[in-house]
Amino acid sequence: MTDYLLEAHDVRRVFGSGQTRFEALQGVTVQIAEGDSLAIAGESGSGKSTLLHILGALDRPDAGEVRYDGAALSEMSTSQTDALRNREFGFVFQQFYLDERATVLENVALPMTIAGVPRTQRRERVHEALKRLGMQERIDERAGRLSGGQRQRIAIARALAGRPRVLFADEPTGALDTENGEAVTKFLFELNEQDGITLILVTHSRDLADRCARRITISDGQLLHDDALHTTTEGAAL
Ligand SMILES: Nc1ncnc2c1ncn2[C@@H]1O[C@H](COP(=O)(O)OP(=O)(O)OP(=O)(O)O)[C@@H](O)[C@H]1O
Ligand SMILES: [Mg+2]
Repeated sequence: MTDYLLEAHDVRRVFGSGQTRFEALQGVTVQIAEGDSLAIAGESGSGKSTLLHILGALDRPDAGEVRYDGAALSEMSTSQTDALRNREFGFVFQQFYLDERATVLENVALPMTIAGVPRTQRRERVHEALKRLGMQERIDERAGRLSGGQRQRIAIARALAGRPRVLFADEPTGALDTENGEAVTKFLFELNEQDGITLILVTHSRDLADRCARRITISDGQLLHDDALHTTTEGAAL
């Protein structure tokens, strides 16, 4: 048993070899409790996305260990980590990653289709998630016709529909204007504060990082700071 939901211990990641060998992560240790909101900050190229991908089981470290709910990811097969990601994690990226030719319904339902969630349940969850994000009227619209802010809300709805325990976001407001960025920020913290979803986000935005209960700063692939900012409840009252 463990007190932490997600733990990375002395995680290392090397890209390339020989002359092009680059140590993107040089032994990062971090423990994340359920319900936490964690910002990963640091300069461009410091290793933030690499760490997020490893924590989210999208990538595997070259050394060190990642544990989710006490289980070592290194001991899982690819299909086991695929299933874990699909069942427990949601992802939101700067570039949205929507199928522009598909409808909002199809986009939001896609991970559930892959996971084999029955059609009726899929529809229910899609409607529920879109309603939450104020996008239910766009359900039959092609994603390619939506604005950036609307696309990001669809991407959040897609993550939410899978009922994740952990939501990973990499620069979720990076491609948005201030107003849409604030709306997306509000939704992400609502999911953390009201639904208890653990939030792990990479951001350059000071505003976004400041709303998190905790901020870690990565520099040249190493953990430079680990700051408790405030509890999320206090944060909401600020
Ligand atoms: N697949 C890859 N192959 C080779 N090098 C990579 C790969 N992924 C990342 N890197 C390198 O690892 C370093 C860290 O990359 P990472 O994407 O984690 O940075 P980051 O902190 O997210 O930066 P940014 O803020 O610009 O997104 C960079 O120098 C990058 O070039
Ligand atoms: Mg990045």
